[in-house]
Amino acid sequence: MLKLEDAFARKFQYLRLSITDVCNFKCQYCLPDGYKPEGRKSFLTVAEIARLTRAFAAMGTSKVRLTGGEPSLRKDFTQIIETVANTPGIEKVAMTTNGYRMAKFAKEWRQAGLTAINVSVDSLDPRMFHQITGQNRFHEVMAGIDAAVEAGFTQVKVNAVLMRGLNDGDLGQFLGWIKHNPIQLRFIELMKTGEMDELFDRHHVRGAVIKAQLLQQGWQQKIRAFNDGPAEVFCHPDYQGEIGLIMPYSKDFCASCNRLRVSSLGKLHLCLFGDYGVDLRDLLTDDSQIASLQQRLSDALVDKKATHFLHEGHSGMTPNLASIGG
Ligand code: GTP
Ligand code: 5AD
Ligand code: SF4
Repeated sequence: MLKLEDAFARKFQYLRLSITDVCNFKCQYCLPDGYKPEGRKSFLTVAEIARLTRAFAAMGTSKVRLTGGEPSLRKDFTQIIETVANTPGIEKVAMTTNGYRMAKFAKEWRQAGLTAINVSVDSLDPRMFHQITGQNRFHEVMAGIDAAVEAGFTQVKVNAVLMRGLNDGDLGQFLGWIKHNPIQLRFIELMKTGEMDELFDRHHVRGAVIKAQLLQQGWQQKIRAFNDGPAEVFCHPDYQGEIGLIMPYSKDFCASCNRLRVSSLGKLHLCLFGDYGVDLRDLLTDDSQIASLQQRLSDALVDKKATHFLHEGHSGMTPNLASIGG
């Protein structure tokens, strides 16, 4: 039986599946000016997603995160959740969203089998939120978080990409928010993507600086559990919420990498940074191809590198995170 395991004995039970690169937001750090999404018609179909998920699950994957672009912009999004959730072996179906459609659909998604939601909120100041995301939708997104909690999602995580001169002064406001809210708020270091060198140089804030501030204010780092993601998590007795720091530049978490990515066009990416992708699409057209698909996945893993080398100055080759789902 083929398993998703690489030369460094890492196992990949987590698939990040991008289902579109279209987005209705235009976050400064994500979509460069002039970015043209791939044609809607060419995204993986529900039938292709079903075959892909079946192949991964049979090789050991138990968690699928649906990403984009904005995954909920797909008209068949609820059907995609159902399809993935009903795949034998899949225990968790998560999504990463800008939150815009969450107030309306959180309940429907939960009924379809979605188990967890991560939502981006880059600032608690509506004007700054608008400036960073290009959309004046702060209140809708916050209403979406309330709706998700009401719908029964107990694991809402909030992502904020920290940017110098924009939201890096918002730490106090964010802390106030999670004092009485059991949310895991994750600060993400701005990542340099191929097309955005200048933005990176202007706005990158090192996560280590935030970590030092947190430790000084009595936050304590939690012990990592097996299979934890890239975030270092901190808690504080006076706060209901937690803080996660995702710091690819400060810390190399690749040794515990547990995830693979597939783009909305059906390319396997072994890492967020630095690979061109292995096309899987020709093996997604028929149920009879599943063994060949598994063989290709297994062969591809031979090339997975030990780390992304970002912390050694490697810039990565990802044009933007919307195209491969972050
Ligand atoms: P959980 O499943 O809840 O652990 O979520 P996650 O942190 O894996 O997912 P999410 O989509 O919320 O991603 C948050 C941030 O972490 C995004 O900026 C991702 O691009 C980044 N991220 C996720 N996986 C990796 C990874 O393997 N390497 C790096 N450098 N960043 C990652
Ligand atoms: N650097 C860091 N995080 C990014 N995201 C998108 N682009 C970048 C970048 N250049 C994050 C978003 C979202 C997640 C899917 O990826 O904030 O939370
Ligand atoms: Fe859209 Fe997410 Fe990219 Fe923002 S980060 S533009 S919400 S895909």
